[in-house]
Amino acid sequence: MNERALRIGVIGVGGMGARHARNLAGAVARGRVAAVMDVDTVRASAVAEECGGARVYDDALALIRDPQVDAVVIASPDPTHAALAQACLAVGKPVLCEKPLATNLQDARAVVEAEAALGRRLIQVGFMRVYDPSHQDVKAVVTSGRIGRPLFFRGYHTNTSQDGLPRTLDDVVVNSAVHDIHSARWLLDDEATEVFIQHIPWNPNDPTTCRLVTVQIRFARGGLAFIEMNADAGYGYEVTAAVVGEQGAVESQALASPAVRIGGVRSQTVDPDWLVRFNTAYTREIQAWTEDALAGRYTGPSAWDGYMALAIAEAALESARVGRPVAVKAMERPEIYGG
Ligand SMILES: NC(=O)c1ccc[n+]([C@@H]2O[C@H](COP(=O)([O-])OP(=O)(O)OC[C@H]3O[C@@H](n4cnc5c(N)ncnc54)[C@H](O)[C@@H]3O)[C@@H](O)[C@H]2O)c1
Repeated sequence: MNERALRIGVIGVGGMGARHARNLAGAVARGRVAAVMDVDTVRASAVAEECGGARVYDDALALIRDPQVDAVVIASPDPTHAALAQACLAVGKPVLCEKPLATNLQDARAVVEAEAALGRRLIQVGFMRVYDPSHQDVKAVVTSGRIGRPLFFRGYHTNTSQDGLPRTLDDVVVNSAVHDIHSARWLLDDEATEVFIQHIPWNPNDPTTCRLVTVQIRFARGGLAFIEMNADAGYGYEVTAAVVGEQGAVESQALASPAVRIGGVRSQTVDPDWLVRFNTAYTREIQAWTEDALAGRYTGPSAWDGYMALAIAEAALESARVGRPVAVKAMERPEIYGG
């Protein structure tokens, strides 16, 4: 691999993939966009041009196999992730795979097993909140021991519908709440054993739709988590992560903007979406991933993290079907993820 600049191929350049490509082109000293693939070839060409004239592909596998591509970013729709991650493993290339790792646990398990069979980590999953300064502050306080043993995680997450269309419960849990599920595991540093969810359908006559969902998780060492995910808050995008410990509590900043007081009114702008709220996190994520890939080390969220988040999500969906808490069933953690 070229030690001076990582030549990166980006698959899927919609909102998220184009942001990764622009960050690579503008903010990552030792990474460059070498190739771009999207089923929308007009969009792919425009992003490639913007990123200094990268090669344009209409076939993701051809991009992955290109010997001039050292590493791959997968930012195409969720159902494409697992197969593309497997293709990257087959040619031994580092990959930043957007969350979720797969859309079902079976596919996620197959990816974990393939990586474990290789005997080394190549996959990072896009749980980018671990690069958000405010989340890192929370993690630092928890690991310092200042608040004592962590007992409880509270996650608050609002989205605003981009198209006004109802979302399914499956999609809200597997695509959105999966971020909060990962945050709970990361901040409590523990594995989940049981989940219970309840939701308010978007369409009162169709329980497969979801407007708002609450997820309760029990952890192996006795900790608990409560996540509130509002799929269409109507006012903007907001994420808060809080941990309550035996001797104190810590909470992330809810909003990136300053609080302003004028004429007896205190106001604060709510970000419109994740690209604004987590702007810094996305930049830091791709910078760290590039440096790690060049150094042959893997420090970010792993395929195991992607698998476990899905194991919890699947148990949560089962809980919605049966109306009671459901045990989280997971494979044994392979040694490459710390056994
Ligand atoms: N980590 C995060 O915070 C975060 C935020 C947003 C989205 N995402 C993830 O990023 C991925 C993309 O989301 P988005 O918001 O950019 O969606 P998007 O709809 O804006 O973009 C998807 C792009 O993929 C292209 N595409 C469709 N089918 C394809 C295929 N088979 N192969 C290659 N390209 C294909 C589309 O033409 C489009 O350009 C999703 O998996 C999503 O879950 C992650």
